[in-house]
Amino acid sequence: MSAKLKKSKAKNSVPRRLRSEVEKILITEEQIARRIKTLAREIERDFRGHELVVVSLLNGTVMFLADLIRHLNLPLRLDFIGVSSYGSGTESGELVFTKELRLDVQGRDVLLIDDILDTGKTMSHVLPKIRALNPRKIKVCVLLDKPERRTHDIEADYVGFKIPDFFVVGYGLDFAERYRNLPFVGVLHPHIYKEVSKQIVQK
Ligand code: PRP
Repeated sequence: MSAKLKKSKAKNSVPRRLRSEVEKILITEEQIARRIKTLAREIERDFRGHELVVVSLLNGTVMFLADLIRHLNLPLRLDFIGVSSYGSGTESGELVFTKELRLDVQGRDVLLIDDILDTGKTMSHVLPKIRALNPRKIKVCVLLDKPERRTHDIEADYVGFKIPDFFVVGYGLDFAERYRNLPFVGVLHPHIYKEVSKQIVQK
C-alpha cells in the first residue's frame, strides 16, 4: 500500500483510542469540508445584497458554524441562542433556554443554524420566538437531517447531509457532553448510550 493511500485510510477510520466507543465514521472530515463549501454557495445566492444575521444554537453548532461562516462571502452579524433539551439518555426531554438573542432582527435576513434536525422539537420552539421579532426573512440551515425521527412539522431550507436514524456524535455533536471535538461525524456504539441510560434510570 502506498504511503498516500495509508494516510488517507488512517484519516478515514476511527482513531484507535475511540474504537470501543465509536462504531464507524458516517461522514468524513473531507466530506464535511466539501459540502460546507457548496452549502455556502447556496446560501450566498439566496441572501445576496443583504446583511445577514446568523443565529446559531448552542452548543452543538460550534464546529459547523465556524467552518460555514468563514466560507460565507456576505456581510453578516453573529448571535447565539442557548437551548438545550435535558432528557435521559437518547430521549429528548424538557427544553431549557440558557441564552437569549441579543441582536435586533426586525426587518433583517436571518439564517438560523443548528447541527442536527432530529424530532424538530427544538426548531418548533425557536422558530416562533424569532418570527415574533419580525425579521424580513428567516431560513434554517442544519448540518444533519434525520427525517425518520421527526415528530414536529419542521423542514430545513439548507441541509448538509440527510442521515438514517443512527446515534451520531462528533463535529460538535455530543453524547453526555462528550465527543464534540471529533473532526468527523461518527456512529456511537449502542452499548455506550445504553449503559448511561441505565445509570440515569437507576439514580
Ligand atoms: C440537540 C441538537 C439540536 C437538537 C435537535 O441539542 O443540537 O439543537 O438536539 O433535536 P430535536 O430536533 O429533536 O429537537 P441538545 O439539546 O442536545 O443541545 P446541544 O446543542 O448543547 O448538544
